[in-house]
Amino acid sequence: MIRYAFPDGFFWGTAVSSHQVEGNNTNNDWWEFESQGKVKNKEISGNACDHWNKYEEDFQIIKEMKNNAFRFSIEWSRIEPSLGIFDGSSIEHYKKMLSSLRNREIEPFVTLHHFTNPIWVAREGGWLNEKTVDYFLKYVEKVVKEYKDLVRYWITINEPNAYAFASYLMGMFPPQEKSLLKMITVLNNMVKAHAKAYEIIHEIIPDAMVSIAYNVMIFDPINPSSFFDKKIQNFLDRLYNLIFLETILTGKFSAPFKKENIPYAKNTIDYLGINYYTRLHVGFDIKTFPFFVKLYVPENAEKSDFGWEIYPEGFYKVVKRFWEMVKKPIIITENGISDAKDEKRPKYLLSHLIELHRAIQEGVKVLGYLHWSLMDNFEWAEGFSQRFGLIEVDFKTQERRWRNSGKIYKNISENNGISDELIEKYLK
Ligand code: NOJ
Repeated sequence: MIRYAFPDGFFWGTAVSSHQVEGNNTNNDWWEFESQGKVKNKEISGNACDHWNKYEEDFQIIKEMKNNAFRFSIEWSRIEPSLGIFDGSSIEHYKKMLSSLRNREIEPFVTLHHFTNPIWVAREGGWLNEKTVDYFLKYVEKVVKEYKDLVRYWITINEPNAYAFASYLMGMFPPQEKSLLKMITVLNNMVKAHAKAYEIIHEIIPDAMVSIAYNVMIFDPINPSSFFDKKIQNFLDRLYNLIFLETILTGKFSAPFKKENIPYAKNTIDYLGINYYTRLHVGFDIKTFPFFVKLYVPENAEKSDFGWEIYPEGFYKVVKRFWEMVKKPIIITENGISDAKDEKRPKYLLSHLIELHRAIQEGVKVLGYLHWSLMDNFEWAEGFSQRFGLIEVDFKTQERRWRNSGKIYKNISENNGISDELIEKYLK
């Protein structure tokens, strides 16, 4: 018996990004960063999952998993290896991938920017340079014209908030800046890039469905009765969860250091892509200069290999909250757990889907769920050490092996719901 049934036509899929799975993306800023030994254990993405060559095999796995959707990204540095020069063979390659998905009746969800930039863009100042907006748009126009008959669901930018945060405020990703002002500048440029890309995509494909994949975090105050902890909570919530989204809903960019009316940014999403993973407990700490922000995960919390708290109720809260704000359909563009032994993933998957189901029952329009990730891959600054895959990858032999969670996900996709049996087995 199916205990939790999902709406008819629901998209069940997984998500990946070009640099994390393809291998040999030698022409982007991450490759350069890795070559300088900046990733954990000095790992480099190298061949990654060799998905560039093994995509047929991987799409077959998706089919066997009974999925009807797949999210991946197009690598800008392959399409446009230098300014204004477009590479025909890469364009053809992605076309083949898209046709191969279509032939298997798998709906592609295509991301146009997923953390990486061509080296030539990075050299010109990356997203701090407002010219990057125009560069990006030329690439978008080219790609959308090429794939207009194959793709309906577009994601302009993956996690603009997380990208700006990790690359320009926390110094974790290239170009390793640590400046709030720069972070705000990047968010501002990315908002403009998204809004104009939205327009371009619609000019080429009038009925396209366009969004971003938005990382949302739950921030809870360490001490709920502390005035200062609550101030920090609000500050982070605005900075991380709200500024970007608010601008593409209202056309008003309102951030520390910068306020600007961007009228053309108003109402530039057709659905909202949500990436949800975890919550952080936050508070005021006089010792952490300059922002006095303490980020904390309680000792006794259940955690992933990454140390991220497992907090399924947060999924429900986030989906409800952003539905109230956006009033457009929601697609979960990422949700998943780093768990090499696959001990916690079954429960993570089921408990999160049950929370999503609760939101759907209460009227939230959710069109689909894309799990991160199909297979283990290159987890950015953590290299290959964090394993998010439903499928395990042996990076020496490139062998793919089904994890138990992969089989569970197949069962859910096949039934368009969660059976009593799965609940009995993994949630009791
Ligand atoms: C968000 C990013 O979009 C993706 O690239 C990353 O691997 C996952 N989260 C897990 O951290």
